[in-house]
Amino acid sequence: MPKLIVVNRAGEESTIEVGDGLTVMEAIRDNGFDELLALCGGCCSCATCHVHVDPVFAGKLPSISEDEDDLLESSDHRAATSRLSCQVPFTSDLDGLRVTIAPED
Ligand code: FES
Repeated sequence: MPKLIVVNRAGEESTIEVGDGLTVMEAIRDNGFDELLALCGGCCSCATCHVHVDPVFAGKLPSISEDEDDLLESSDHRAATSRLSCQVPFTSDLDGLRVTIAPED
C-alpha cells in the first residue's frame, strides 16, 4: 500500500499505509491523529484539516478549488504549501507524500 508520512504539531514523524479511496484527511484521522479535527467530515467547510504539503509533490496534487482557497485564506497559518487534506484524494501517485499538520487557528 502507498505510504503517507505525517508530521504532527510536535514535529514527530510517522509513516502510515493508506488503502484505496481515502482522502489524506481520512487517512490521517483514521490513524489516530487527534490534532486533525476535520470537524465538517470532509465537506470543505471547516478548515480544521489544514496541512502543509511537501512542495516536491505540488505538481501531483489536484488543483485548489475556490471554496478551499477561501477557507485557507481564513487561516493565520496559510503557506504556499497549504491544502485542506479532505480535498486531496490519496492515490498511489502520492506514495511517500509528506504532510505536516498545520498549527491550530
Ligand atoms: S474536514 Fe472540514 S474542510 Fe476538510
